Amino acid sequence: MTADQAPVLWPLITSPALPPRGAQMGLELFSRCSFFADPNGWVLDPDIPVSNPNVFCFGKPGMGKSATVKAFCLRMMGFGYRTLVLGDPKDEYEILCRTLGVEPIAVGQGLPTRINPLDFGPLGRHWDRLDATEARRRATVVFSRWLTLLRGLVGSQKVGDRPVPFGPSEETVLDAALQLLTGYTDGNTRLTETTVPLLWRLLDNPPERLVEECRFASVRQFLDDTRLLRDSLGKLVHGSLRGLFDDRTTIDLDWTAPIQSLSLSRLEALGDEAVGMALMCLNSWGRAMREVAEPGDLRVVVRDESWKQLRLGTEAVKSFDADLRLSRRDGDIQFAIAHKPSDLLSAGDTTSQAAAIAKDLLHLADTKILHGQDQKVADELQSLLGLPPAATDLVTDWCRQTPGRALWVLGDRIHKVVTYLTPAERELTFTNQALLGAREP
Ligand SMILES: Nc1ncnc2c1ncn2[C@@H]1O[C@H](COP(=O)(O)OP(=O)(O)O)[C@@H](O)[C@H]1O
Ligand SMILES: [Mg+2]
Repeated sequence: MTADQAPVLWPLITSPALPPRGAQMGLELFSRCSFFADPNGWVLDPDIPVSNPNVFCFGKPGMGKSATVKAFCLRMMGFGYRTLVLGDPKDEYEILCRTLGVEPIAVGQGLPTRINPLDFGPLGRHWDRLDATEARRRATVVFSRWLTLLRGLVGSQKVGDRPVPFGPSEETVLDAALQLLTGYTDGNTRLTETTVPLLWRLLDNPPERLVEECRFASVRQFLDDTRLLRDSLGKLVHGSLRGLFDDRTTIDLDWTAPIQSLSLSRLEALGDEAVGMALMCLNSWGRAMREVAEPGDLRVVVRDESWKQLRLGTEAVKSFDADLRLSRRDGDIQFAIAHKPSDLLSAGDTTSQAAAIAKDLLHLADTKILHGQDQKVADELQSLLGLPPAATDLVTDWCRQTPGRALWVLGDRIHKVVTYLTPAERELTFTNQALLGAREP
């Protein structure tokens, strides 16, 4: 009998176990073997159907998504990987950092930490020594990163229930303004770092040459036509970004430390939208920081609670997409956590464009970890992820029963995995403090 016919008689035989390389996560129940996660190794292995090392992790709150990524990061450290947590909205990575001897960086109003999302990043170094072609190449990368972020920040704001429009004219104005502010327009050998408040101020008092460059007939026309753009930037400067992302970066990450994390819990009181905006700034800044890295610098870049950014709207999803898509290809594993696949569809946007963006975004991670979900998410598991019905049932039933149970979907291969935590890891990943506190008299 051929291998085609064999499964009819032995239907319970499924994918073979994965090779024992990388982080040992727990038990794979189809093969009854230990389960090892090694995303970069999987890319190199022609027998495993993944072509990028990125991971999306979905699941209801409390199903063990964060614990899984923390255990994964810890266990990959033995293989030389370091961890970068781009935004920790609940400060839950702090204990992990301190255990590893690293002080997490707190971001919040009234604290000295500033992160400039318009930082040049390592690409801006030694600008005066670059030849013209290389300078142009780098400028394209840097300016387009800034524009994507600004488009996301502006387009996430609303007029009524519509997003603030951001079209080619807005892009032209911002691009010209950024070039002017940095000195790129003048072909300077040293570029000046700029910030969102400086950008806003320049647009509010546009110099003649900016007005001309953007082909407006007069300063008056410039001001009239850019009112919405200026007001949106102004709102950011006075609102979500104030005291956090509005000045030059004050931190210098030690890339040799085992972990680095940016704690955001102080922003919680400002609301989900502010946290979403903060995550967007951090994601973009983090991408910049990783644009150049030492050879052999292997890192897991964690984006926990990504849904807060994604639900700001289509422009925020596009910005997230760009950050993942353009992230460093070699050595970095992008690990993004959301609740459910439709988070990528961006709130309320049911257009086919939004669906196409979500599907594209899903393709950026060939590995998906599916923790427990409610029955009502079953449809989207099938439609967005193409999960077969039997596997969908596992996600809504078996995985739902205990944290740590998940399907690991590698391309079209499905593994049924229980992640085991050591007693020490249980303490490091414990996130039910509030519940415990409520129970005690
Ligand atoms: N594999 C596991 N084994 C035992 N407990 C786990 C496991 N995964 C998670 N937990 C516990 O469940 C709780 C919720 O996990 P968490 O990772 O914070 O969920 P999520 O990030 O999905 O909201 C935590 O207290 C954690 O310690
Ligand atoms: Mg979590």
